[in-house]
Amino acid sequence: MIKDIQQQILKLKEENDICILAHCYQSPEILEVADFTGDSFALSVKASQVENKTVIMCGVRFMAETVKILSPNKKVILANPSAGCPMAEMMDKEVISLVKEQYPDYTVVAYINTTSELKTICDVCVTSSSALEICKKIDNDNILFIPDCNLGDWISKQLPEKNFKLLNGGCPTHAKMSERDVLKAKELHPNALFLVHPECTPDVVALADYVGSTTGIMDYAKQSDAKEFIIGTENSIVTHLQMSCPDKMFYPLSKDCICHNMKATTLVDVLNCCKGDFGEEIILDDHVYTEAKRCIDEMIRLG
Ligand code: 13P
Ligand code: SF4
Repeated sequence: MIKDIQQQILKLKEENDICILAHCYQSPEILEVADFTGDSFALSVKASQVENKTVIMCGVRFMAETVKILSPNKKVILANPSAGCPMAEMMDKEVISLVKEQYPDYTVVAYINTTSELKTICDVCVTSSSALEICKKIDNDNILFIPDCNLGDWISKQLPEKNFKLLNGGCPTHAKMSERDVLKAKELHPNALFLVHPECTPDVVALADYVGSTTGIMDYAKQSDAKEFIIGTENSIVTHLQMSCPDKMFYPLSKDCICHNMKATTLVDVLNCCKGDFGEEIILDDHVYTEAKRCIDEMIRLG
């Protein structure tokens, strides 16, 4: 059944000149039909290089908006229109405009998990894999980092020479994991290394053997000589790692670390998008293309 649907998708992709981009949090059956998979940064870079007429994004809304901004002449489809990112929708342009007035000398650094409308008033975007490098290179010691205070806290601790102003936003999925979960998992798996995403809270991050983006965690686990790992990020990464490294053991930090927004997209949604029967075509206001693009281009240039 799954194989049948995948075959239909592959055929339609070819016939209709479609490229499928999928974030690593998508299910294995979607990753198998994707032309390119990766973390948020890798997907943004890929988005600017795609040659197909149509791009289907299997991820959440801000990712599809990023693709559209980088490839305005392509038809960009969000595979499941209900897939939003709660962190990206936490802060809007109006609120951040007011905050900016209070911090006129600060460079506004926006995590890519923001709406395209909000990006229009920010200076540079970052992803979890590029944030440290970019914040280091910014030619200003004052940084207003939005919206994820956990990622911002992790970066600020590594750049003590800079002044960071953080706001109270973050990922509800990663914030669910607690120090208690870590102590419990370490007790159950005393030989395991603990790998964590910087969207987790500082008390969880402080206990990690390695902190990094989705791709960073996967690369670290694959290259490490260790045989057991506790994974502190979205649980699909546990599944993917277990499939790619069958000789190692991967344990989720918490069974609750599931992003239901990322899981909203199904293989049938992707098939229906290829048929032109489902998904939402991303259309943005004219000013967004130029103003938000400046912020994303700056990320690609510095990252
Ligand atoms: P990365 O893909 O940049 O690691 O971010 C994780 C995430 O939460 C995506 O929404
Ligand atoms: Fe947003 Fe968190 Fe889900 Fe990523 S994991 S899409 S940041 S809610």
